[in-house]
Amino acid sequence: MTSHPARPIAGRGAVPGASTEPRPTRLSAGGPRDVTWGRRRRPGMEARGELRVGFVGAGRMAHGVAQGVVRAGKVKAANILASAPSDRNLGAFQDLGCRTTHCNSEVLQRCTLVFLATKPHLLPGVLQQIAPAVTRDHIIVSVAAGVTLQTLQQLLPAGTKVLRVMPNLPCVVQEGAVVFARGSCAGEQEAALLKSLLSACGLCEETPESYIDIHTGLSGSGVAYVYLFAEALAEGAVKMGMPSALANKIAAQTLLGAAKMILETGEHPAKLRSNVCTPGGTTIHALHELEKGALRATVMNAVEAATTRAHELGER
Ligand SMILES: NC(=O)c1ccc[n+]([C@@H]2O[C@H](COP(=O)([O-])OP(=O)(O)OC[C@H]3O[C@@H](n4cnc5c(N)ncnc54)[C@H](OP(=O)(O)O)[C@@H]3O)[C@@H](O)[C@H]2O)c1
Repeated sequence: MTSHPARPIAGRGAVPGASTEPRPTRLSAGGPRDVTWGRRRRPGMEARGELRVGFVGAGRMAHGVAQGVVRAGKVKAANILASAPSDRNLGAFQDLGCRTTHCNSEVLQRCTLVFLATKPHLLPGVLQQIAPAVTRDHIIVSVAAGVTLQTLQQLLPAGTKVLRVMPNLPCVVQEGAVVFARGSCAGEQEAALLKSLLSACGLCEETPESYIDIHTGLSGSGVAYVYLFAEALAEGAVKMGMPSALANKIAAQTLLGAAKMILETGEHPAKLRSNVCTPGGTTIHALHELEKGALRATVMNAVEAATTRAHELGER
């Protein structure tokens, strides 16, 4: 089996310092031994009490979570094992210092906490494949959109500790907004462990499962509404004569700064907005235009439409 040369992959920079670690050994599909990990252990029997984290599916979201937990020092890269059918995405995990395999069951054999990060339509087949390797020691965390806790629990052995996570794309730059819900056999301890890990990827909150579709409408899809707004903001500046590259940069920084102020001051956005409005000034003139365009009602409708669609897709 060929190994990937260390190379940056778009949007997935290698972790500083990772290159100083020994290159991981590629594990083959047949479940071979790895010199560093030694003999296979039962899940939960980690060496030196270190948590081993697995990813079944090694795409963009899995890599974003892995990168976040490694960068935050929550899990050593060498204690992460990711599986995927092809080599397409595994090189990015190797660049991070993680181990890789083409065998999904091997991830269950070697790791206690396992993220399921394939596309949702593939997940039922993957669950059937890995179910025989799942024990009560495992903590199984699905990131698949629309796949309910009920479905996950039905397709895994009775008593499995299952949690369902809904991340958003900025998890890949560790500024995500993540919510998660517990299945009936997952307790406080599993929730606390998951929250601690995922806080490395941004904001992380436990919620009832019914909030997950709303989170999709607010934040999962919401990222796209913000990009649209950023684009429009910059285009306005371009119309007024500013070069596009500079306008895009300033628009992005404006969103970042405004968001940071909401989080750091704890003020309601309406209060912060009114602070910017000098009577008779520029901002109130601009806000009047946005109100004429029904910006608020349109955005509320967008959140409602995406939430409803997420619900419909989950029922299929
Ligand atoms: N991206 C987002 O913004 C976002 C937000 C919320 C939730 N999610 C959820 O996150 C999950 C992953 O999304 P993504 O964007 O990371 O997708 P992605 O980049 O397409 O990655 C999917 C991964 O699954 C692997 N895979 C395919 N078949 C498999 C199998 N039978 N066994 C094991 N792995 C298999 C793929 O393998 P190859 O590498 O060989 O192609 C790939 O590594 C989805 O369920 C999605 O709903 C994503």
